[in-house]
Amino acid sequence: MVKSLAFVSGKGGVGKTSLAINSAINLSLSGFKVAVLDADFGLANANIMMDVKADKTIADMLSGACTLDDVVYRSHAGVKLIPGGSGTLDTLNLDTEERWKIIRSLDVLEDDLDYLIVDTPAGASNSSIEFAAAVDHVVITLVGEPTSFMDAYAFLKALHIEKSVINFSVIVNMAKNENNAFKDFKSFEKIALMFLPVELSFIGWMPGSSDVVQSIIARKPFILDKKSKRSVGKCMDIITKNIQEISPQKRSGIHFFSSKSEG
Ligand SMILES: Nc1ncnc2c1ncn2[C@@H]1O[C@H](COP(=O)(O)OP(=O)(O)OP(=O)(O)O)[C@@H](O)[C@H]1O
Ligand SMILES: [Mg+2]
Repeated sequence: MVKSLAFVSGKGGVGKTSLAINSAINLSLSGFKVAVLDADFGLANANIMMDVKADKTIADMLSGACTLDDVVYRSHAGVKLIPGGSGTLDTLNLDTEERWKIIRSLDVLEDDLDYLIVDTPAGASNSSIEFAAAVDHVVITLVGEPTSFMDAYAFLKALHIEKSVINFSVIVNMAKNENNAFKDFKSFEKIALMFLPVELSFIGWMPGSSDVVQSIIARKPFILDKKSKRSVGKCMDIITKNIQEISPQKRSGIHFFSSKSEG
């Protein structure tokens, strides 16, 4: 069975894409078969961070110009990347039917995958909400700033109210140390639990690190770089281990790899 996860945040620029692709590569290095779907169709950039030249994207598949096979790219450590669009108006305004098409088009990968990691755009748009509702588990990335807390809360609230999602995992990025990260998680959890019957678990943290910034500039995911691996690899290993321990939630509605149960 494929385990699907979406990286979400509310606020932009908090490290979703970086965490999503490095988790994917780390899972792959641990022997799992992994794909990344870049569902940030406005500003798709997972392909840039993964150094994949994406001549064709999922937008081309939607328009009928190519098949899914043509938009599944092999990347680092064998991770498959399905790149988002290039910011054309069409892809920015994906409607529900097109999102359903994308979700169902991935069914053919089911027998050859252990994990699907979905990178979503910032903000609580219909698209982010629907893709986050279509996975087994939602991972929220936070940074220790009130704006990040409030935007993440707005996202969580929308997902809970519109799609009845209850369980969320949280990663605190760019933290000073583990203690501070956990304090930030507890503060965020307190806000969420004050208003909503949700369950949050802390699955890890990352320090603010120039190695992470450099790895993005060099288009070489930090988990593959010897020096970065020494500085931040341990944090990434804990996140990856916790991802493996997440148990999938039962959901109704459109879901990745659920065509058999829907039909
Ligand atoms: N652990 C970290 N330490 C230092 N800088 C970081 C870290 N994680 C991310 N960054 C910085 O934040 C920037 C944004 O990261 P990333 O693109 O992964 O965020 P995002 O949440 O996916 O953004 P968007 O909302 O635009 O999709 C990176 O270019 C990098 O400079
Ligand atoms: Mg991103």
